[in-house]
Amino acid sequence: MADRGFDLEDRLESLEDNDLKRTLSPVDRVAERGYFAEPSGGELPVLDSAEALVFASNNYLGLTDDERIQDAARRAAATVGTGAGASRLVTGDTLVHQDLERLLAETKDTERALAFSSGYAANVGTITALEPDVVFSDELNHASIIDGCRLADCDTVVYDHCDVASLRSKLEERAEHAARKGDAPDEESWLIVTDSVFSMDGTVAPLESICDAAEEFGAWVMVDEAHATGLYVDGGGIVQAEGLEDRIQIQMGTLSKALASQGGYVAGSAELIDCIVNDARPFVFSTGLAPPAAAAASEALHVARHSDVRERLWENVAHLRDGLESMGFDVWGDSQILPVVVGDRRDAIDLADGIRERDVVAPPIRPPTVPDGTSRIRVVPMATHEQNDIVTCLEAFRATGEEVGLL
Ligand SMILES: Cc1ncc(COP(=O)(O)O)c(C=O)c1O
Repeated sequence: MADRGFDLEDRLESLEDNDLKRTLSPVDRVAERGYFAEPSGGELPVLDSAEALVFASNNYLGLTDDERIQDAARRAAATVGTGAGASRLVTGDTLVHQDLERLLAETKDTERALAFSSGYAANVGTITALEPDVVFSDELNHASIIDGCRLADCDTVVYDHCDVASLRSKLEERAEHAARKGDAPDEESWLIVTDSVFSMDGTVAPLESICDAAEEFGAWVMVDEAHATGLYVDGGGIVQAEGLEDRIQIQMGTLSKALASQGGYVAGSAELIDCIVNDARPFVFSTGLAPPAAAAASEALHVARHSDVRERLWENVAHLRDGLESMGFDVWGDSQILPVVVGDRRDAIDLADGIRERDVVAPPIRPPTVPDGTSRIRVVPMATHEQNDIVTCLEAFRATGEEVGLL
């Protein structure tokens, strides 16, 4: 009989042969340090005897083990329940969801906000609900934006990374294309979508120039603040840092990075949120965000807005960037994300292994996550790292860099 199954062994071997196979390494807790276990497949993991410093997490403000946030999650579990029990539209809407959404709208300076069960769902849900004819998308946008465009079945026009000249020429081309077809210029709905901070390159989108271009061509702008929410002025993102709230129609983000929880959000006008509540399938047909996650995110946002935690993160970022650059490493980006780019994937693996032996965890980032020849270690400090931790991380990079011939 013909074998119509899947040759998984072959697929895995090919990943292994190309230094592209990924594995899971559990840790005992989510914080700036922890005990890791070697990948164990289906076996129960055995934790290492030494504690390692984590320099690769998106828990930027280090709030996942903050007592105030843990207490908020506990209280919500005890008073509201551990899960939402149904879609928000059925019986899963609670006061903690409403509280979170009010605080998100205040932070993002919008009329309303809406929480999803993940940032992935927020992107896919928002883009599909809008049903744009054309999406202009930065070439390095997150997978959830790309998947949203695929599901929305729109024309996706990709422009060069953070390059407004490239965006403008794509907008012009499309306008000419519409004119050639004899369409009225405003017949199509256009959405420009960009991450504000790019997770693998640490770059920041030129939002003001993007808004200028959008306004010239009558397009709407949607900004994904997943890696910025909580880190800039008053706990906002780049949109707030640059004062662009009135020029950007859709702000989205995640609750699962600086806000130390799980879930996503979209913020904008009351009409936008009403449409998404009705038309976003990942909102309508999925159980509401768990109440403890909503309460934890609210408390984390409050801490991000009203404490010195953001300053501590940015001090650590400056210290780490200075140290790595002065050793001679090539550090990309303009944000809290410090990609140490080494090029060759084998070099990235050797560098990651060497710092891991020195009890610093920051895994290699290789194709297909980044283009071939730009393999890197994505180094990210947290607000809760002490100065000594930063020094330990720098020392691990220096010793390994010299050992493997990268310095
Ligand atoms: C830019 C960006 N957008 C969206 C997401 C999805 O967010 P979540 O992890 O909450 O699903 C991520 C996170 O992985 C991200 O990096």
